[in-house]
Amino acid sequence: MEVVIRPDEETAARVVGRIIAKELRANPHLVLGLATGRTMEAVYRWLVRMRRKERLDFSLCRTFNLDEYVGLAPDDPGSYRYYMNKHLFKQVNIDVRNTHLPDGQARDLEAECEQYEQRIQRFGGIALQLLGIGQAGHIGFNEPLSALRSRTRVKMLTPATIQQNAAFFGGPGRVPRRAITMGVGTILDCRRLLLLATGPEKADIVAKAVEGPITAMISATSLQLHPRCTVVVDEAAAGQLQGADYYRWIFANEPEWEEFR
Ligand code: F6R
Repeated sequence: MEVVIRPDEETAARVVGRIIAKELRANPHLVLGLATGRTMEAVYRWLVRMRRKERLDFSLCRTFNLDEYVGLAPDDPGSYRYYMNKHLFKQVNIDVRNTHLPDGQARDLEAECEQYEQRIQRFGGIALQLLGIGQAGHIGFNEPLSALRSRTRVKMLTPATIQQNAAFFGGPGRVPRRAITMGVGTILDCRRLLLLATGPEKADIVAKAVEGPITAMISATSLQLHPRCTVVVDEAAAGQLQGADYYRWIFANEPEWEEFR
């Protein structure tokens, strides 16, 4: 695992945007895994900016999102399809037919989960997966006790997650109780993982995810098992990392990071 610490949210999101742009330029057919949530909005702003200023080309890229709420229509403002259309897909030159999210309205949810896994495989697997982290440590909607080898499935959301996302729905009572999410095993199969966390409210969980023992209670700790995982944080989210000085030293000296400094 590598940890990149940047001064603030904007510069942290910019590093993430530039890593995605670099991979996309190297492989225009990139199979890109996407995430939603507040943190990702800054990343999508950078990608949109790069489309406008540098003609970053999304036309051949294929995307798979981590998760979608059960029961919400694609045009429901609370759905992750709506979020993605708004923050990214409608603002760059991506072909919407190349964008995939689980269908939260599928009649047979179990079959939908299985087909989502198969679709990812048909495109050769996910090359780069973008991740956020919930305050209780979930990646995707892999809530506490998610098996470390779990695959795409329906998960019940915890009261903490419902509370965290309540503002998007106008109150906790309106947040769907279930979501389809890629499993921890599905995420670990991606060839590269890129997690972004910003703000002081993420400092405690980032330290546990990066430096704590691996446990199914905090699905983000499973990232320690991945051979190519980059965690990008701002100073506020890095506040409780024991090894922060060491991570800064690597970022300042490792040639791979020169172009991102
Ligand atoms: C959403 C997702 C979640 C979020 C996490 C952080 O697709 O995968 O794991 O990344 O809940 O959300 P924010 O950024 O809103 O704090």
